[in-house]
Amino acid sequence: MTTTSGEFVLADAAAYAQAVTDASEAAGAYYTGGTSALDDDAYDRLVRAVAAYEADHPDEVLAHSPTGKVAGGAVEGDVPHTVPMLSLDNVFDGEQFTTWTASVARRIGHEVTRWNVQPKLDGLAIAARYHEGRLTRLITRGDGMAGEDVSHAIGTIEGLPDRLTEPHTVEVRGEVLMTISQFEHANEVRTAHGGAPFANPRNAAAGTLRAKERSYTVPMTFFAYGLLPLPGTSAEHTEELRTLAHGELMDRAAGLGVNTPATTDVSGLTVDTVEQVLERVGHIAGLRAELPFGIDGIVVKADLAADQEAAGTGTRAPRWAIAFKLPAVEKITRLLDVEWNVGRTGIIAPRAVLTPVDIDGSTVAYATLHNPADITRRDLRIGDHVMVYKAGDIIPRIEAPVAHLRTGDEQPIVFPEVCPQCGSGIDTSEQRWRCERGRNCHVVASLSYAAGRDQLDIEGLGGTRVVQLVDAGLVADLADLFALTRDGLLALDRMGETSTDNLLAAIEAAKAQPLSRVLCALGVRGTGRSMSRRIARHFATMDHIRAADAEAMQRVEGIGAEKAPVIVSELAELAPLIDRLAAAGVNMTEPGATPPAPEGETEDGASGEQAAAGPLDGMTVVVTGAMTGPLEKLSRNQMNELIERAGGKSSSSVSKRTGLVVAGEGAGSKRTKAEDLGIRLATPDEFAELVADLLD
Ligand code: IVH
Repeated sequence: MTTTSGEFVLADAAAYAQAVTDASEAAGAYYTGGTSALDDDAYDRLVRAVAAYEADHPDEVLAHSPTGKVAGGAVEGDVPHTVPMLSLDNVFDGEQFTTWTASVARRIGHEVTRWNVQPKLDGLAIAARYHEGRLTRLITRGDGMAGEDVSHAIGTIEGLPDRLTEPHTVEVRGEVLMTISQFEHANEVRTAHGGAPFANPRNAAAGTLRAKERSYTVPMTFFAYGLLPLPGTSAEHTEELRTLAHGELMDRAAGLGVNTPATTDVSGLTVDTVEQVLERVGHIAGLRAELPFGIDGIVVKADLAADQEAAGTGTRAPRWAIAFKLPAVEKITRLLDVEWNVGRTGIIAPRAVLTPVDIDGSTVAYATLHNPADITRRDLRIGDHVMVYKAGDIIPRIEAPVAHLRTGDEQPIVFPEVCPQCGSGIDTSEQRWRCERGRNCHVVASLSYAAGRDQLDIEGLGGTRVVQLVDAGLVADLADLFALTRDGLLALDRMGETSTDNLLAAIEAAKAQPLSRVLCALGVRGTGRSMSRRIARHFATMDHIRAADAEAMQRVEGIGAEKAPVIVSELAELAPLIDRLAAAGVNMTEPGATPPAPEGETEDGASGEQAAAGPLDGMTVVVTGAMTGPLEKLSRNQMNELIERAGGKSSSSVSKRTGLVVAGEGAGSKRTKAEDLGIRLATPDEFAELVADLLD
């Protein structure tokens, strides 16, 4: 039963027993990397209902109840912890937080001296033991008293060095997680090995950490939030670590070479008052969507060791720290339908149509379903309740059907037998299905893309005109555009002399576009605008690009071992088209770039990227707000091109690594963030002056 506030009320002992079983199962799945039938909100509500029932019926409490236990009592381990690894109590809003701080003040007899506010990282707790500076053992949290030995993961976790900078005997505690890009990489590798993609970064980290024998390794990241002495270290050192404030301990950990949140935009911050805590909580919450890793809350800790000691510790959680929970990024909703969309490259991708659901402030109505094999593996059916995950920029994903909510009316998902776009056969030899006609299938989409403002920028060649040209049989691929004749065009409906001449002139002008744009227009799988620019700058000419093997391709920043062979084989597939474009007079060089030095010659000096020295040499630049003055007519893409021509790197998000933010009228959160981080700001006019030599 549910009350108006959304809380469950357990009516009797049977309902209570069922709730205990459900919550224990969900906790088990959560802590061991399995899929839970409850989302976080539902789990929290269920545990609150269990706790409420137990408070009213203290003599009916079941032994396997998750209340009062670390990890809901779901996991055990066999390596004892030197000091218990505890959980945290939660608050959900400022009022609850203020009430909690008052209770801490009462307990210790004065206001907490100062607070440390840090992100609550959404991964798994781990204890890393260092003996005389060497990493010897990794242990999971387990039931809090003893954990599982996962030392086999040593060497795969970034931020957890094999050796500390000093030969200390200490335990570093913190969270192991996958950043969003590590998660995407892990799923690429995993599916390439025929495995099912991980449902979310947390699951991926849990599964990866525990997996002992895998033929591949995928990296994870560690962030420290604790540092304690281990037996074997000197009494002096032990005493020192026990008396340092939390913020100081984190500085120590960082000094030893261990990663901490200080390397992120949401570093731990020490503040004096409850108001300042709440301000920082709001600030971190506001940055959540932009962070390159998931957080599920903000942890607030009394900073001073003396305050912590005075507050003391319960069996499950310390009384000097609290987790300020953020809204869940997973929700359960219904799968209404599956659409099969054919992309520019002929890939036929299934997409889930959902009952719209609000996840962390945005409405999710569609989710990716990867590929048909994955649908089969997950045994998804139309009408299923499904768990949906969405965080930051990640495309919403379906995790799993909630099998116990099935009614029997669910229907199987029907896979297409022919290409839904053109009716040709489907190449099902790879996990991702593709129309047999490849990129020629969806010629309208690929031509419209190629003619777009950020690619060949052919004015007058919008979607309807492309459809007209394709329907009339005048173009079947990109090269055909350059063979269009005046007579051919004049024969079409709604094509007068003026529009014909304008279109032909625009097509002629497109031949002079830089290589980066030509490459982008080709629609090579795995390369968008910025990747096309990087490739073009690196290789300088189409001939050099085509001569590159996978190894050479990997020298381009951002192209890894997975992507390189795809790009190389795509280019081979496109060879006849590229030849025809070159023969038509389309430019195949990148202005200002120099080809990389041939194999064997020294790396420095002649590399295409290094030759790009300019006024922004090596600087990461972010553009935000409206451009004015000499930059007024430039699109965001053109601004990025300009930055890169000037030797800089363009980026869309502000971080510590940003060197300059060009803030025009109406600039909002990016400008504020730059100010917070003390990053140099420039107006569009100032920036125009900086790159004046490169402006036409
Ligand atoms: S402090 C004694 N700090 O949250 C204090 N925990 O819900 C115990 N977590 O088991 C932990 N970020 O896995 C702490 N900055 C942070 C954290 C953090 C994530 C996790 C950790 C812990 C769980 C408790």
